[in-house]
Amino acid sequence: MAYTVPKLTDYSAAALDTATRDLLAALDHESAAVKTESEYETLRIRWRARKDGIVTQVNELWLKSAPREAKRDVGQRVNETIISRVDTVLRERHDYVKSLAILKKARAEGLDAGIDAARRAAELSESVDISLPGVRRPIGAEHPVMQTWREIVSVFQKLGYSVAEGPVVETDYYNFEALNFPPNHPARDTQDTLFIAGQQAKPQRERLLLRTHTSPVQIRTMERMRPPIRIVIPGTVHRNDPPDASHSPMFHQIEGLAVDINITFGDLKGTLDHAMKALFGSSVKTHFRPSFFPFTEPSAELYVTCFICGGGGKRGPDDAPCRPCKQTGWIEVLGCGMVDPNVFEFVKDNGYDPKKVSGFAFGMGVDRLALLKYGVDDLQYFFQGDVRFLQQFA
Ligand code: DAH
Repeated sequence: MAYTVPKLTDYSAAALDTATRDLLAALDHESAAVKTESEYETLRIRWRARKDGIVTQVNELWLKSAPREAKRDVGQRVNETIISRVDTVLRERHDYVKSLAILKKARAEGLDAGIDAARRAAELSESVDISLPGVRRPIGAEHPVMQTWREIVSVFQKLGYSVAEGPVVETDYYNFEALNFPPNHPARDTQDTLFIAGQQAKPQRERLLLRTHTSPVQIRTMERMRPPIRIVIPGTVHRNDPPDASHSPMFHQIEGLAVDINITFGDLKGTLDHAMKALFGSSVKTHFRPSFFPFTEPSAELYVTCFICGGGGKRGPDDAPCRPCKQTGWIEVLGCGMVDPNVFEFVKDNGYDPKKVSGFAFGMGVDRLALLKYGVDDLQYFFQGDVRFLQQFA
């Protein structure tokens, strides 16, 4: 039933309240149904037409016929409550109807634009000579450091080693403590560590740093896998070294670890001798010199005969001094040793009782080996991204 303005006989506040409430309820109900411009126009005329619009009727039926004493009150109510509310609702509804119309138009045009684009594309393809050759994009090649990385990993994979990896942002525990670098031990100084800021509030072993070597992954892997294990661990490492011909704050290492019962230094020597021959050629000789690393005991550095001068220390017809081996005929390629029992103590509960198992480990710098292998004399070339340099290895 459509709303009609009632005649008022009772001008008490309660009666006026009820009449006003009924009127505003009708306004809300009717306006909510309005969706188009023409429906809006019908609504506006019904409520606001000078002649016989609802507002006009209210003036006639409520205000004009009100007794004198009630006139002020009714007038205020009509102006402040009814007229202002009717005008607000009409304005809001008009805005709503207009935006609906814009949206509808945009949708229709979007569709048209799509159809248009498709038609133009179809016309264009008729005018393109599809027998012309396409645009050739240069195909990239593997970076020399990555070639070396992959070659080293594959030598060990053929010996039955698996590949393991670990995080570059590491805790003090894995990078140092569990590798038998006690807190404040001077061996830590040799690592030029880059620490993550703001870690002072944590206990030392939980503090974060950029791993200085791939050795922490030895511990991480032994925590996850029971012996026997044979793994290689390639990865990026960081040290606080200014870049120069042989240093870079970021570089690459490949770590190795073999743990089993009765692993001996002889196994270490045989494995690495084989690997060096596979990498540098079967005529290469290996040579182990005593060294020190906290996590291996005994420790050694591995040297191979210089594959540039062949071990003689001199190069070329005029016997120029061989630079890569500093005329010694030997090149240092990695650090290695027998896993220190103190390291096994940290993973003892996972089957690594130092009384029952033994193992060897080694770690080498991939970038340095790539320099030697390709006869490059400045490490920085590897990291500058100059295509003219990199193209030579494609
Ligand atoms: N982590 C050592 C470094 O970066 C290299 C190394 C030496 C790794 C001996 C080993 C090892 O596993 O046994 O200087």
